[in-house]
Amino acid sequence: MDKARALAGAVDEARQWGRLMELARIGAIPGDGVNRQALTALDRAARRLLIGWAEAAGAQVSVDAAANLWLRKEGRDPAAAPLLTGSHMDSQPEGGRFDGIYGVVAGLEVLSALHDSGVVLERPLEVVAWTNEEGSRFAPGCMGSMAWSGQRPLEAFAENTDADGVRFGDALAEHLAAESDLPRRPLGGRPHVYIEAHIEQGPRLEAEGLDIGVVTGIQGSRWFTVTVTGASAHAGTTPVSLRRDALQAAVRAIQALNTLMADPSDRLRFTIGSLTVEPGSSNSVAGRVRFTIDLRHPEQVVLQERGDAVEETVRRAAGPVAEVAVAESFNAPPLDFDPAVIADIVAETQTLGLRWTTMPSGAFHDAQLVASVAPTGMIFVPSRDGISHNPAEFTTAAQLAAGTRVLAAALARAAN
Ligand code: HGY
Ligand code: MN
Ligand code: MN
Repeated sequence: MDKARALAGAVDEARQWGRLMELARIGAIPGDGVNRQALTALDRAARRLLIGWAEAAGAQVSVDAAANLWLRKEGRDPAAAPLLTGSHMDSQPEGGRFDGIYGVVAGLEVLSALHDSGVVLERPLEVVAWTNEEGSRFAPGCMGSMAWSGQRPLEAFAENTDADGVRFGDALAEHLAAESDLPRRPLGGRPHVYIEAHIEQGPRLEAEGLDIGVVTGIQGSRWFTVTVTGASAHAGTTPVSLRRDALQAAVRAIQALNTLMADPSDRLRFTIGSLTVEPGSSNSVAGRVRFTIDLRHPEQVVLQERGDAVEETVRRAAGPVAEVAVAESFNAPPLDFDPAVIADIVAETQTLGLRWTTMPSGAFHDAQLVASVAPTGMIFVPSRDGISHNPAEFTTAAQLAAGTRVLAAALARAAN
């Protein structure tokens, strides 16, 4: 039996499901959800659980300067460029039990299957848990993979703060100190291939009765933070004619942005997911409003044109009563994954007799950063009702195991 078959055959559905459910208890929130933010004690507790399982499967564990966590299992040739898989362990504030963590646990399952089956691949297998993929505590997302791939220096994120004013630099230092017992490894690397397993986070696979999405690429994403500054004033005594009302200015700006981002074909994704008002008191006119923009589109020309018009649109709509500042924190162009990696995933999916389709990813992933340094691909498994970034996120144990079998076989195939 060839190595791809043997490895896929050693994937254990119950073990993988049990690990995911045990991890889901760390940061559990009502409705079967998870709130496990990057670089928190909960994040560290989940990592310790993962490390214990990895060491039991004969893996060496290490951490890099961006706190990316690495699990390595040797192959025949220790000098060979490694096979790389993984995803992220951090969640949204009201996240689900599978987004990100499934890809890390799937990688661990392949590592455990190697250990159980005695299969020795040509190359080492490395499983990575990327730091702060979600960007919900510290914006932007994908900090760990951006620093690792050299897309942005790690220092560029140090001053970014969370809602409590904690600096990313301080949270990272605290995290690395808490994991000072773990071996360190340098940032960067050139894996032979990177394949990430992830839930689809959309409705298509379930609606079409399919098991596997072979991902062809990722649409582009741009993130902005808009700050509108006016002047707080007394709600009872200040005439409207004298007000510098930051909230009214922000409402005008958002209405103008909705017009700018209108897309009858419903392909453009424009989201204002967070808005804060200061001082936030019912009888004080708002002095400052801060809101986020998440803009996505599969075509670079549209992303460029609409994103570049954000600042002027906001400034004009806010009007003379308010100062406007627009900061862009993330700009990932659309990208296509590697045809050879896609072909490997398709071949192994077919051999496993699974129902599949090729499809683009609407969500961004660390894979889009890894693609700049290694041939990269992704495997999707279905999401019930297409729900994600919500406690109701769900995928069955069997669907998750099918994705992991494809991952195991595709990695074994790519090893040669
Ligand atoms: O926002 C995203 O696309 C990813 O799920 N963090
Ligand atoms: Mn994710
Ligand atoms: Mn996510």
